[in-house]
Amino acid sequence: MAQTLSIASCYDSLAHIKPHLDATSTTLKPANAISFRRGLSSISFGKQEDLFGCSKLVSLSFFERQCSRRNVGKFSPRAVAVKEKEVKTTSPAMEEGGKGKKVMVVGGDGYCGWATALHLSNRGYQVAIVDSLVRRLFDQQLGLDSLTPIVSIQKRIKRWKQVSGKQLDLFVGDVCDFDFLAEAFKSFEPGAVVHFGEQRSAPFSMIDRGRAVYTQHNNVIGTMNVLFAIKEFCPECHLVKLGTMGEYGTPNIDIEEGYITITHNGRTDTLPYPKQASSFYHLSKVHDSHNIAFTCKAWGLRATDLNQGVVYGVITPETAEHEELINRLDYDGVFGTALNRFCVQAAVGHPLTVYGKGGQTRGYLDIRDTVQCVEIAIANPANPGEFRVFNQFTEQFSVNDLAKTVIKAGEKLGLEVRTINVPNPRVEAEEHYYNAKHTKLIELGLQPHFLSDALLDSLLNFAMRYSDRVDMAQIMPAVSWKKIGVKPRSSASEVKF
Ligand SMILES: NC(=O)c1ccc[n+]([C@@H]2O[C@H](COP(=O)([O-])OP(=O)(O)OC[C@H]3O[C@@H](n4cnc5c(N)ncnc54)[C@H](O)[C@@H]3O)[C@@H](O)[C@H]2O)c1
Repeated sequence: MAQTLSIASCYDSLAHIKPHLDATSTTLKPANAISFRRGLSSISFGKQEDLFGCSKLVSLSFFERQCSRRNVGKFSPRAVAVKEKEVKTTSPAMEEGGKGKKVMVVGGDGYCGWATALHLSNRGYQVAIVDSLVRRLFDQQLGLDSLTPIVSIQKRIKRWKQVSGKQLDLFVGDVCDFDFLAEAFKSFEPGAVVHFGEQRSAPFSMIDRGRAVYTQHNNVIGTMNVLFAIKEFCPECHLVKLGTMGEYGTPNIDIEEGYITITHNGRTDTLPYPKQASSFYHLSKVHDSHNIAFTCKAWGLRATDLNQGVVYGVITPETAEHEELINRLDYDGVFGTALNRFCVQAAVGHPLTVYGKGGQTRGYLDIRDTVQCVEIAIANPANPGEFRVFNQFTEQFSVNDLAKTVIKAGEKLGLEVRTINVPNPRVEAEEHYYNAKHTKLIELGLQPHFLSDALLDSLLNFAMRYSDRVDMAQIMPAVSWKKIGVKPRSSASEVKF
């Protein structure tokens, strides 16, 4: 009897469509891939095309390896070629969420922003992207590049229109330029603003004096401009601001969600949770949080600060719809984040770069949960005058935990993965207590995608697919918290230590 290969086991990101599939359609008979595709085409439910989109982005070798592991034959390349011609649609059910509500996504060309803009658009929100495209410039200036080839924002938007039938508005400009931002606000009149548009790398902010100052100017002034624009043009607008769990540092007590109740000398108050940022970047986020809290109190603005953990993964259902919708994936020592970096390192045979003792523990989340959390925050807005803080992550891992997980996943794919302990370029505790609360988004309905073998499989295979784009010289960390100086540096790997 022919064995079947569960698509959901091949690709964890399909989990969200399981409820829409009937029992037979969740299995793939690889030897019979064409009829499988036809079978799916005849079923009408919202995300069937995601299935094809995802399989398109997963390399054939991945499928072949999966198939041979399960002794079920080969995935048909023809099935992949044919599916490109298929018309993509979005089901009415998927459109219900947003109901045309206008959301401005500042930083919508970036890693989290692009995935979120497409998700919200797919959910029926009317989305405008505001982005200066400066993230692409950072890469050019430092000689870096995304692992995945990303097309221009204009091409991305055109492709999304073709794939989904939905229009994304685009405002290319800098939120530090208030005249530009004011025009964008007046023209689009957002009901909610999701603000991702900042310089978001701690190492970048520690390269040299110029980049430290740039980071704080860009992030703090940009956020102040957003606050003034809301007050002036759309005072009812809900600000959803991306903060970071890094604002809290690693205190030796539990981390609460934004506030802590303290009794001191017999009196009790609920106060903002203490912040102990560990880079000029993290400090910029702390300054933002204070400015937002102040304007909620003083002007009655409504805001949600999403203290996000470290994001991993690359595919969301929408970015998987077409190669031109692919998201960026950073693996270099400046912009790459822990798990994404480890997967790319494993895929190209580079030892996993564990900084110091590797006991540094942080909150992590799948990019599919980033987009979910933002939608949840928009759908459940803060009250006027309220400054709400949610800790946005789903699981805690130490760097050593992540390395072990990637080694195990690599072994399953036949990769020999090892680690090296490199001198820690950061100033941080390498062994410490860490227990951060993260219940508020769950209470509002977040259904987390926990780190799974299937996700790691797909991420590793994704990295292997694009491994010829990896610049090995960019993998080791090259920015030292202690060696930052005033001399401008023109390349990320210029200083070795
Ligand atoms: N990626 C993570 O793991 C992570 C973790 C915690 C928090 N965050 C936060 O989430 C947000 C998005 O992160 P990301 O990884 O998508 O970053 P990213 O660098 O990929 O995207 C940021 C986008 O903002 C744009 N931008 C920057 N400054 C701007 C300005 N002044 N005006 C207009 N556009 C501007 C950039 O061009 C870029 O497209 C950031 O605020 C970051 O601090 C990210």
